[in-house]
Amino acid sequence: MTETLTTNLPRLATLASARTTAAAQAAEGLALQEGRLSAHNLQVYYGDFLAIRSVDLDIALRRITAIIGPSGCGKSTLLRAFNRMNDFIPTARVEGEIRFRGQNIYNPAVDPTALRRRIGMVFQKPNPFPKSIYENIAWGAHINGFRGNPDELVETCLRKAALWDEVKDKLDQSGLSLSGGQQQRLCLARALAVGPEVILMDEPCSALDPIATLKIEDLMRELAANYTIVIVTHNMQQAARVSDFTAMMMMDDQRAGSVIEFDETRTIFTRPRDRRTEDYVTGRFG
Ligand SMILES: Nc1ncnc2c1ncn2[C@@H]1O[C@H](COP(=O)(O)OP(=O)(O)O)[C@@H](O)[C@H]1O
Ligand SMILES: [Mg+2]
Repeated sequence: MTETLTTNLPRLATLASARTTAAAQAAEGLALQEGRLSAHNLQVYYGDFLAIRSVDLDIALRRITAIIGPSGCGKSTLLRAFNRMNDFIPTARVEGEIRFRGQNIYNPAVDPTALRRRIGMVFQKPNPFPKSIYENIAWGAHINGFRGNPDELVETCLRKAALWDEVKDKLDQSGLSLSGGQQQRLCLARALAVGPEVILMDEPCSALDPIATLKIEDLMRELAANYTIVIVTHNMQQAARVSDFTAMMMMDDQRAGSVIEFDETRTIFTRPRDRRTEDYVTGRFG
């Protein structure tokens, strides 16, 4: 290990080791869960451009997996592949498989809208509907087929997103009237309202201040008891603090990205195998 790594890493390592128990449980559970959500020789093109090359990745259920790597290496592309968001990009083409509960989600028999109810997404910039806080949850759930009691749903989801106490007296106000951090939690509540099993988050805190960021991270740890979370982040402290597993992506000289290293987060931040991972997590490039 180089000097920079050993001097820069202890803080991240301490953060990451708080996750040891979860990681140990995950190692044991992983064999059972193998293939529940996984990428197999996944490649994504935009037109002729190969954006990500031969990615194999197992996402552990009810754990947090972070995807890190320099800008443009394909993190968002990979994340979008997990719930077929790339379908909305006309030039995008996917090869290989993503398996979720034993089925290839790119099988033509799979309904992508139904899939996205099970594998939801939260974006970088909070994007509440221009509707009331209440309607952001009730309306989204309704158009997705929810026929239960909307008041209960709204309260349950806002509680799960740690937002209820802040908004319970102003549910009829616009979702857009909330602060950035509250808006992001509202978007999370909206995602939870359709009953997903997996939540994909693409740099969900990059537009937030540090306090709002910590709130989202705490929330993620709580949600990981019941949900599988995959988060793209460019914030190394965040990856170390919040995730159980980390996938490091890097692009080659043709600018095609791939996962160069995948391991328990603690390992990635203390004794990575690949020199490029070491350079990246110590901030030497990227
Ligand atoms: N809609 C698109 N059309 C064409 N190229 C794209 C599109 N989205 C991303 N790319 C390209 O694919 C590569 C990976 O992008 P992206 O997945 O956004 O990377 P990251 O999230 O790691 O910054 C980049 O070279 C980017 O320019
Ligand atoms: Mg991105």
